[in-house]
Amino acid sequence: MTIDTFILTALRSPSGTSISGGEIAQKLGVTRAAVWARVRELRALGYEIEASPHEGYRLLNSPDVLLGDDLMSRLKGDPLIGRDIRVFQETTSTSDVIERLAADGVREGVVVFAESQSRGRGRLGREWISPAGKGIWFSVLLRPNLRPIEATQLTVAAATAVARAIESETRLMPQVKWPNDILLGSRKVAGILTELSAEVDRVKHLILGVGLDANFEEADFPERVRATATSLRMELGHPVDRAGLAVAMLTELERDYARIRSGRFDAIATEWEALCTTLGRQVSVRVGDRVLHGRAESLASDGALLLRTQHGHLERITGGDVSLKK
Ligand code: BTN
Repeated sequence: MTIDTFILTALRSPSGTSISGGEIAQKLGVTRAAVWARVRELRALGYEIEASPHEGYRLLNSPDVLLGDDLMSRLKGDPLIGRDIRVFQETTSTSDVIERLAADGVREGVVVFAESQSRGRGRLGREWISPAGKGIWFSVLLRPNLRPIEATQLTVAAATAVARAIESETRLMPQVKWPNDILLGSRKVAGILTELSAEVDRVKHLILGVGLDANFEEADFPERVRATATSLRMELGHPVDRAGLAVAMLTELERDYARIRSGRFDAIATEWEALCTTLGRQVSVRVGDRVLHGRAESLASDGALLLRTQHGHLERITGGDVSLKK
C-alpha cells in the first residue's frame, strides 16, 4: 500500500471524521512532515483536505479524476480485481496496455484506466469514442481456468456486474442486450469487449474492456450514434461521480469473477436473464456473413444464446450482433 492509499483509506474510514497526522505517520513509520507533504500533493490533485491543528485531517471532497491510489483505497477487503490499478491520462486503448502487461507475465487482476483513448475499440472492429473525462474506460487482465468456449461466461458476468453497479450508484434500471450491451431505455450506455488469447482447450488470458458513457452530453456524441446512445448524465440530468462508479464496477466484477471461479455461473445467468431485454424477443443475429432470424429462447450454461430459428432449429450463438425486432 502506498502512502497515498493509506492516507486516503484513513480519511475515508467510517470510524472517525478526522485523523491526526501523528497517527498516520506512526502507522506508516514515516515522519509527520512526510504525511503533510503527501497531503499537499493530494490537495494539488484536487482533494479538499482540511487540516486542523487539534483534530488532524478531514476529507471534504474528492475531485472528478481517476487516481489509482484513490480507487485502490476504496476497494474493500483484499480483492483480486483491482489489486493493481494504473491510470493513464491518454493511451491508444486500455486493452492495448493490458495486452502488453499480459505478455510480460503480469498476474491477473491488474486494471488499467485511461481518461481518454485515441483508438478505443468496440466489438466487431467498431470505434469506441472515448473523450477525456466524459466516461469510464478500463480493461482488466484475467487468467481464468476456462475452456475457450466458456469465455462468454465472462462477458455475461461483466454485463451483469456493470448493470448492477449502475443501478446501485444511480438508481437507474439498466437492461442488457445479449451479450454485452447495457441499455437505458432503448439506448446504449455501456459496452463490454472481451478479447481472448487461448490454446485449443485452455484460455491463456482474457482482457475484459469496459466502456461506460458516464458524463457525455448529447453534443459529445458523434451525429451517427446520437439516436442510439445515451449517458448517465443525460438520463439523470446531472453529472455522476466517476470514481464512485468505477469502484462499484470493480467491486461487482470481483463478486462475479469469484462466482465463476467457484463454478457458480448459473447464479449469474439467472441475474442476467432478469436483466435481459433479448430473451423472448424476435431477433436477428449477424454472425460473420450469416444473418439468423428467430426467437431468443434462453441462455446456455456457458453463456451462449440459444436461438430458435424460424425453421424450428435451436442454434447456439457464441458471438455476433443481435438486433431486436419491433
Ligand atoms: C462494445 O460495446 O462494442 C464494446 C465497447 C468496449 C469499450 C471499452 S473502453 C475500455 C476498453 N478499451 C477499448 O479500446 N475498448 C474497451
